[in-house]
Amino acid sequence: MREGSSLLLTVKLNTRDHDKESRRHSLIDRYPQNWNMTTNLRSQWQANARAYSKLIAEKGTPHHREILNPCIERLMGDVLGKYILDAGCGEGYLSRLYAQKGAKVTGVDFSPSLISESKQRSQNFDITYLVGDICQLEDIQANQFDIVLCNLVLLNVNCLESSLQEFHRVLRSGGFLIFSVVHPAFNVYGPGQWELGEKDPTTGRRKGQYFKTDNYHTEKEFQIRWNSRTGEGFPKKFSFFHRTISTYVNTVIESGFQLVAFEEPLPSTDAPFFERERRVPFFLVIKAEKS
Ligand SMILES: C[S@@+](CC[C@H](N)C(=O)[O-])C[C@H]1O[C@@H](n2cnc3c(N)ncnc32)[C@H](O)[C@@H]1O
Repeated sequence: MREGSSLLLTVKLNTRDHDKESRRHSLIDRYPQNWNMTTNLRSQWQANARAYSKLIAEKGTPHHREILNPCIERLMGDVLGKYILDAGCGEGYLSRLYAQKGAKVTGVDFSPSLISESKQRSQNFDITYLVGDICQLEDIQANQFDIVLCNLVLLNVNCLESSLQEFHRVLRSGGFLIFSVVHPAFNVYGPGQWELGEKDPTTGRRKGQYFKTDNYHTEKEFQIRWNSRTGEGFPKKFSFFHRTISTYVNTVIESGFQLVAFEEPLPSTDAPFFERERRVPFFLVIKAEKS
């Protein structure tokens, strides 16, 4: 009887180890990671840096301001005196926001043009900006930060696993990772899109009929060209790496974090403009602790 139950326990443990191991391999192999790929991804952001900075315009788009930022701010809590890494900082508007609130901020981005935009816009701030790749944060020592904020970046990287491991390394014990992505289940930069109705005359935006998602489990790269609402085009397509929610959550856990919050923020306004975003979530935000 005792032998039988210990055998069962061994088999269960082995199965769990095997599941974990096979999941780990599939995560590593999913997207190619090599020098060419990184160069190609960086060149997209280099080419689009000007257009992206104009789109953000030091304050973020209406989607950032009304949906994402209030949720991020709540999860960040009081940042006074905290050491924050803004990973994939873009033109640095979040670095400036948290520096204004008294945090000691380092912004890192692999696009030299975006780092230069950040520096120009942050002349009155005490923020450190570095050109660096979040897949391998070579210039950042371990256990440096209280918070790593990674806002709308991980869906653009081919290296989810190594970037989460790097975030874990640079955080001090008890520090937090907060990241956001476009919601993987309702992903207009992935396997989903709205079926649209007529234009709402008050907002100029077409009404949503329903959201359709297909082939959710197929993790693949989508290349999409952006146009801003003011009609300005982005010169190069962007790569978006679709991943399931379980891939995100399991990779967070396997990188040594404990999940603290899982949020699908609603718009903070009832403006008709956000009719679609009230019906299905646009963003997913995760907070996790380095234990
Ligand atoms: C959608 S933007 C978000 C920028 C900023 N976090 C914000 O909220 O405005 C994605 C940013 O990630 C940066 N990025 C993408 N891959 C990166 C990588 N491997 N290492 C560092 N930065 C990266 C891009 O250059 C770009 O600035």
